Amino acid sequence: MSEHAFARLHLEDFVAHLLRHTADGSINRAPSVERLSAARYRDPAHFQTELERLFKRVPLMLVADCELGRNQFKAMEVAGVPVLVLRGGDGAVRAYLNICPHRGALLAEGQGTRTRFTCPYHGWTFLQDGQLAAYPLQSEFGEVGDVRLVALPVFERAGMIWVTLNPKQLVGPDALLSGLDRLLDVFDLGSWHLISRRELPGPNWKLCFDAHLDFYHLPVLHKNSFGTRTSPKAVYGYWGPHQRLVQPKDSKEGVPEAHNVFRLGLKAREQWPLDAMMLGEWILFPNVSINIFYKGGLGMLISQVLPGRQAGESVTVQSYYLREPPDDASLSHAQQQSQFLAGVVSEEDLPTSDGQQMAIASGYLDEFILGRNEGGVQAFHGWLDRIVETDDDDLEALLSTRPGWRYTP
Ligand code: FES
Ligand SMILES: [Fe+2]
Repeated sequence: MSEHAFARLHLEDFVAHLLRHTADGSINRAPSVERLSAARYRDPAHFQTELERLFKRVPLMLVADCELGRNQFKAMEVAGVPVLVLRGGDGAVRAYLNICPHRGALLAEGQGTRTRFTCPYHGWTFLQDGQLAAYPLQSEFGEVGDVRLVALPVFERAGMIWVTLNPKQLVGPDALLSGLDRLLDVFDLGSWHLISRRELPGPNWKLCFDAHLDFYHLPVLHKNSFGTRTSPKAVYGYWGPHQRLVQPKDSKEGVPEAHNVFRLGLKAREQWPLDAMMLGEWILFPNVSINIFYKGGLGMLISQVLPGRQAGESVTVQSYYLREPPDDASLSHAQQQSQFLAGVVSEEDLPTSDGQQMAIASGYLDEFILGRNEGGVQAFHGWLDRIVETDDDDLEALLSTRPGWRYTP
C-alpha cells in the first residue's frame, strides 16, 4: 500500500469514529474506573526507576527537523542526561552525550551552527563525527589514543528526530512507532517554522503530562481561558503506547470551512482532505504532546515534558510552529496564540499540578481515581508500568503493535 493510501486509511478510520461519537454525543469510554497509586508521583526510588527503565531505554522525540539544518546543533538536558544533537555538513543527523571525554565538562550549550565543538574548559576540539581533532599543549599533555564522543542511537521519522539516551539501541523506529510516523508524515513537519519557545518549570513530570491526556478539566480549570463552553469530552484513539484526543465537537476558532471535519460526513470519504483529518492532539509516548491550532494560519504547539533532577521537578518545553513562512500578520497572531497557550499552562495547569504534588507529599492522599472518560490517562500509566517491568530483550516486542487505531485503552 502506498504511503498516501496507508495514511488515508487510518486517518479516515479515526475521523469516522470521531463523527460517529459526535453524532450521538458519546465518547469511547474505558471499561472501568481505575485507581492509581499516588506514590508514583513522589517516590524518589520510583523516579530513578523511570529514568533508568523508561527514559534511558525508549527513544524520545527531541527535535523537530525544521530546527536542525546542515551544520546546526542543539544541546539539551533530558532526564538528567546532557545530549548533543547535530546535523552534519553531509545532512546526516547524529546524537552524542554532550560530555567532554577529558574531564566531563558540557561540550556545547544552547543551539547554533558549528562544524567543530571546542570544550569551554580546556579547549579539546571534536569533529561532527565525534572524533577528537585536537587538544592544546599536546606534547605536554601526552598521547591519548583514540578518543571520541559517545554516540547515541538516533533516527528521523515524520520530520522529527528521536534519540535513545543509551549507547545501545533497545527499541528501533519501526517498533516504537509501528507505522504512526506514516500518518504524522502528513504534517510535513520538516518544512514548518519555529515561532517561539518557552520553558515552564513544574512538579513531577507525570502530573504535568497527565494534564495533556484528558479534556475533562478544560471547561473547569480553563474557564477563564478556553471558556466554560469548551467541550470536556475527548474521543480517544490508541496506537500502541501513543494516542490521539479530539473533542467530539470542535469549538476552536478560526478553523477554515474546508478543514472542518465535522462537516466531512456530508462528503464522500475520498474527498476528506488529508490535513483536515490531522486535527486535535497527538501524544507521542512517553512525554510529547502535539496540538493543532488555526490562529494566524495552521499552527502547531509541541510540548515536551522533561523530568527534572528530582521526582518533584520537571520542565515543559513549549515550541510553537507555523506551517507557512510567517508574514507580519501571521507572526503576530501566532505569537499571541503561543503566549496565550503559555499562560494557560503556566497559570492554570502547572499551579494545579503543584498543588497536587503538595497534596501527595502531605502523605494524606494514597490514590487517584481515574474515570472511564479519562481513558488516555489510564492507558498512559498502564504503559509506564509495563515498560518498567519489561526486560531489555522483550522491550521491542512489547512496544511494537499492529498498525491501526484501537478505541479502548
Ligand atoms: S573537560 Fe573538556 S577540555 Fe577539559
Ligand atoms: Fe490543561
